[in-house]
Amino acid sequence: MDFKIIAIDGPTGVGKSTIARQLAEKLGYLYVDTGAMFRCLAWRWGKQGCPESDHLLEELGDQTRIVFKDEKVICDDNDVTQEIRTERISGLASRISRFPLIREVLKKQQMALVEEVRKSSSYLGAVLEGRDVGTVVFPGADFKFFVDASPEIRAKRRMLQLRERGENANFEEILVDLRKRDFQDQNRKVAPLMAAEDAIIVDTGILSAAQVLEHLLSCVGGKIEVS
Ligand code: DC
Repeated sequence: MDFKIIAIDGPTGVGKSTIARQLAEKLGYLYVDTGAMFRCLAWRWGKQGCPESDHLLEELGDQTRIVFKDEKVICDDNDVTQEIRTERISGLASRISRFPLIREVLKKQQMALVEEVRKSSSYLGAVLEGRDVGTVVFPGADFKFFVDASPEIRAKRRMLQLRERGENANFEEILVDLRKRDFQDQNRKVAPLMAAEDAIIVDTGILSAAQVLEHLLSCVGGKIEVS
C-alpha cells in the first residue's frame, strides 16, 4: 500500500492537534506536530536571549535536537512537553517562525522524519499539522485540510482550556494575543499561513471535535483504508 501524507494546516487555537492526533490514530499513521518543533527552537532561542543574526539562528537550528517519544517532546534531552505550551513560548515561536533560515531547517527535518518512517514501513502514512505543511513542506500531499474558526471562538476555547488547568485566563487578553499571532503568521514573508488552493476547508467553529473527525475520515475514506 502507498505511504500517504495528510496535511492539516490552520491558525492557532483551532483544534488542529486534537484533530490530527485522532485522525492519525484512526488511520494508523504517524502524527507530527510541526508547531512543537518551532516551539522547541523558540524554547532554546529564549534561553539564548533571542539573537537574530543569521549565524546564530543557523547554529540554533542545526544544533537543537528534537525527538518525539511516547507522546513526549524531548529537546536536547530535556522533556519540554509542558514547558513549550506556555503563552511565553507561544509568542516566541510565532516570532522565531518568521526567519527563513529557521523555516528551512525545520522543513528539512520534517521531510527527513517522514522519509525515515516511509522507508522503515513502521506506519502506513503520516498526518502533519502546522501552518505551511500543504503549501510549502508537502505541496504534493495526498490530502490537504485547512481548519479554521473565528478568533472569538478560538479565544473562548483557549480561555476554558486554561481555566480547566487552574490558570488565570482573561478572554480579552487571549483574544488580543491570538489576533497578534494570527497577524504574524499570516503576514510573514516566507511561508505565511494560508490555505493551499486545493485544500479542503473545515470550519471547526460549527462542528464538534467528533464531527470534524468524522468529516475528515469521510473525505479520505474512499481513497484510504479506514479501520
Ligand atoms: O501550532 P502551534 O501553535 O504549536 O505553533 C506555534 C508557532 O509556530 C505558530 O505561531 C507559528 C509557528 N508555526 C509555523 O510557522 N509553521 C508551522 N508549520 C507550525 C508552527
